[in-house]
Amino acid sequence: MVRKLNHNDNSNSFAVSQVMDKKKISKLKIIHIAAEAAPFSTVGGMSSVITYLSRTLAKDGHDVSIFMPKFGFIDEKTYPLELVYKGLKVPTGHTKDPNFPSHLICNVKRYVAEDGVSFYFLENMEYYEKRSNVYNYSDDYLRWALLAYGSLQYISNHMEKEPDIIHVHDWHTALVPNIVFKEYKPKGKFENTSCVLTIHNISFQGQSIDPASELNFDDGKSRIPAFYNDRFKKLNFLKRGIIYSDIVNTVSEGYARQILTQAYGCGLEILLMELRSKLFGIINGIDYVKFDPQNDPFLEANFSINTVERRLINKKKLQKEFNLEQDDGVPIFAFVGRLDHQKGVDLMIEVVEKFLKDFNAQFVLIGSGDMELEKGAKRLAEKFPKKVGVHTYANFTLPKLVFGGADMLLMPSRFEPCGIVQMETMRYGAIPIVRATGGLDDTVEDFNPSDLTGNGFKFKDFDGWSLYGQMVRAQETYRNKTVWKQIQLNAMSTDFSWDNIADKYIALYNKAIHFKKEGYFNKNLE
Ligand code: GLC
Repeated sequence: MVRKLNHNDNSNSFAVSQVMDKKKISKLKIIHIAAEAAPFSTVGGMSSVITYLSRTLAKDGHDVSIFMPKFGFIDEKTYPLELVYKGLKVPTGHTKDPNFPSHLICNVKRYVAEDGVSFYFLENMEYYEKRSNVYNYSDDYLRWALLAYGSLQYISNHMEKEPDIIHVHDWHTALVPNIVFKEYKPKGKFENTSCVLTIHNISFQGQSIDPASELNFDDGKSRIPAFYNDRFKKLNFLKRGIIYSDIVNTVSEGYARQILTQAYGCGLEILLMELRSKLFGIINGIDYVKFDPQNDPFLEANFSINTVERRLINKKKLQKEFNLEQDDGVPIFAFVGRLDHQKGVDLMIEVVEKFLKDFNAQFVLIGSGDMELEKGAKRLAEKFPKKVGVHTYANFTLPKLVFGGADMLLMPSRFEPCGIVQMETMRYGAIPIVRATGGLDDTVEDFNPSDLTGNGFKFKDFDGWSLYGQMVRAQETYRNKTVWKQIQLNAMSTDFSWDNIADKYIALYNKAIHFKKEGYFNKNLE
């Protein structure tokens, strides 16, 4: 039996109701524009969300493309790219000043994936090809503005038909709806195209200058300056995306509610409050083929909901990999993910240290990121050599073994728009212990001992005692094998598949088309 998520709050207005009869839905032409997409670039969770959503929509017969930069590290031997346009001239806005080029030149390359999704790559030596990272350059605002302008120019002038939907993600591409509205619409272009902005993380907004100063305030509506102009650094890309999109959504209903508050809105809460009737929340999904314990090649032993006891073989292998004592009876707590302030890794290390002094448990951690946090994790391993194992380098096989062999997975995030690891781990029967925030709150249902429902353990406040308390609760519950097995079955049978979620996006796209037609939100933007 597949279980549906049982959200805590059914009264919110951010849910998207699905269109029921799939056959009656007209097929849409959808274009995503994003900083990255899997498998070509996979820095953040957003990259897989875009690709798997696209794949599912293409399977349902929609025409889906993704525009992104051609980074130097994308290997053209593995992915042969076809050159579809040479020398696209993207105007910089400088026509008279001899100090600045009037155009930047991009090539456009394409890769059509087996599932039918077309990836378009903007190739530019200076801004993408020569850079070894995706993010964090001082001229990021120019790199993403180039992606926005370049993609729109190619779509408008060189594609057969204008799309029904342009879907942009996070601040990097949030300038697109602004450009569509101010520069294309007056010329009669993109008249039937609606723009959707997904916020994966509101804390990044694109101002590359101190936004706290009054002088740097961006009202969001002023004219976009020419490239290289200092004023460009003041633009709050995300704010502009929110203003000019027909619909804005975030990656969970919980986070949609939270960003309306001062504590989570990062300065955009008042604007979002004003525009909340175009704000929605749709939880992400996970890929059921890639994350399938029955067929996963990275597991020592495959298993299903009927053979959960086979996880013990993976547990032994995991203990061996991390040089831990090989003991079935000791619970393994784990962490997999970015070592980042957002994820509460600092709090976790502190609490795990206290916990391991008093309880017979083990802890494994896989992740990289912040150097201080990496050091903290390594120090913990030195203190408890038999109880703690740490891997701080990129490894694609070990996380699967953790999901399939560990007993509990910790996610004490300060904030979490959606979170993906908790869903992956549940599918493999490792039980999440999470802070009840954003998407974690929406996907994890607290275990209830009176009727044995729930698929994890949750705590409310971001503090050590709250996390400690749930770890103790999980450790004690784990001793009762029958009860623990029930929680595992609950977790493994929760539905996180993309099919259901892609239907919600189709409903969202149709809403965007409707809002645009009726001119609900852009009347006073002209
Ligand atoms: C960001 C968020 C994370 C979310 C992901 C994909 O990385 O921090 O919570 O799961 O985007 O939407």
